[in-house]
Amino acid sequence: MTHAFQNAMSLFAAGVTVVTTMRDDGPAGLIATSVCSLSSDPPSIIVCVNRNASAHDAIVAHGKFAVNLLSVDQCDVVDRFRQAKGPERFEAGQWTTLTTGAPVLADAAVVLDCTLGKRHDGFTHSIFVGVIEQISCRRNVHSSCLLWHARGFARSMPLCV
Ligand SMILES: Cc1cc2nc3c(=O)[nH]c(=O)nc-3n(C[C@H](O)[C@H](O)[C@H](O)COP(=O)(O)O)c2cc1C
Repeated sequence: MTHAFQNAMSLFAAGVTVVTTMRDDGPAGLIATSVCSLSSDPPSIIVCVNRNASAHDAIVAHGKFAVNLLSVDQCDVVDRFRQAKGPERFEAGQWTTLTTGAPVLADAAVVLDCTLGKRHDGFTHSIFVGVIEQISCRRNVHSSCLLWHARGFARSMPLCV
């Protein structure tokens, strides 16, 4: 069943994000695709983070996090996050902050800067509710959104123009 479930879920295309927060010794973060809109009232999202992920406890402790939606020209950030650990993950990309102080990518397609609302049990994961404090959208993004699909990276492409 686990194998069939993983195969099935691999076929759900998802936008690739970097979820970030701050800890005493510097920034922390992870690549995440389990990001979903929750409500417009208040504007909020859910993010599912593995309890064993190095950034998990930092998100809880800081009580704030940012979700950075990547475009296809930001594969260097993905590579860095996969190869490095801790604050060294932030050596690729141009990082800044918005309201909460969580690191945000200056050229991310979208940034959702959040305060941590409730945290729910999700078996191996925590389901973090993020209440949106600030939104940054790059309206002039011409490059495609970076997707994760069928266990590989892909690009979004309009079907009709
Ligand atoms: C494309 C992709 C999507 C991922 N999505 C999630 C996710 O939604 N939630 C999560 O906890 N980990 C996700 N991961 C795994 C984390 O990025 C990370 O590798 C893992 O939590 C270990 O992190 P650590 O080395 O900081 O402990 C994803 C990894 C990749 C490559």
